Amino acid sequence: MNPEEMPEQEHLPKPTVWPIGFAIGIAVVLVGLIVDPTYIAPVGALIAIVFGVLWARAATSELRGRTTAIEPERREAQVAPAAVSGDGAQPAGERFPRNKFLELSTLGLGGVIGGLVTVPIAGFAVLPSFLGQKHHRTDLGPVSDFAEGQWYISTFMTDPAEGEVSRRTAFVRNNGTTTVEGKAEPSFTIISNHCAHLGCPVQANGPTGAILGMKTISEHTVSGPIKLEPVVPAGFGCPCHGGQYDTEGNRTAGPPVRALDRYAFEIINGRLILLGTFSVAHVDGTGAQAQIHKYKSVGPGEHVDGWEQILYPINPPHN
Ligand code: FES
Repeated sequence: MNPEEMPEQEHLPKPTVWPIGFAIGIAVVLVGLIVDPTYIAPVGALIAIVFGVLWARAATSELRGRTTAIEPERREAQVAPAAVSGDGAQPAGERFPRNKFLELSTLGLGGVIGGLVTVPIAGFAVLPSFLGQKHHRTDLGPVSDFAEGQWYISTFMTDPAEGEVSRRTAFVRNNGTTTVEGKAEPSFTIISNHCAHLGCPVQANGPTGAILGMKTISEHTVSGPIKLEPVVPAGFGCPCHGGQYDTEGNRTAGPPVRALDRYAFEIINGRLILLGTFSVAHVDGTGAQAQIHKYKSVGPGEHVDGWEQILYPINPPHN
């Protein structure tokens, strides 16, 4: 039969499950890069390679089969081209298998080159957010430096080895003591100054040490240089887009989507030690009696509660 007269369906590759397996493998690689690059991503790559090879084999074996079936007719056409085409032109069916093969090879090669270029770039861009993020402990000095009920703008480095790039600011208030399971525990409110909208540095809305005539404490602890500047804030405000927060860090106006993040802390040998940050949806109550609706640390602009949280299913860790 002249290949030109073959029904259209015979030109189409038979459906197989290999492309689906290949797609699943790629999906597992992408999820693995985010969730677990050590184990899940390589498993996904293996799945993609196995199914990709099976897919390529199935596609090329079909082409080989067609080429074999068409070969006698092609030979006929070469012997008497005029008889096939009727006008002396090259037989229309002769080039079909080779063209198809070249088309598939070009697409496949393009895909492989695209993957080789894209995957490393995407990996270098995304992976550092998920790897090697350690929570440093920061010694803010003796608890006695923090007068009860007084706010301080505290600046410190989370990792002195990294230098100024690790400098952070927190608003710290000594709430006195609270009772936890029958035991008196020190209570501190320690609020991060990273705006919950886009991360700009939030400022305290109120007079600071110099105006108050109060002394700023500067000292050098094992965590590097520490500065504690007294302040009397009516709230906290963001200079970027006007986000406003009350003194518990609750959003009161502007675009931020949640309350300000807070620092976890512990008291060791009478010293205030800052741990990592956590995110806060909102705070009920104040000071030592505050009920903090806390969540794991997420990036600025991300909802931690309400239906909007489903828009942020995977988050890299933050300091
Ligand atoms: S970054 Fe603070 S309000 Fe936009």
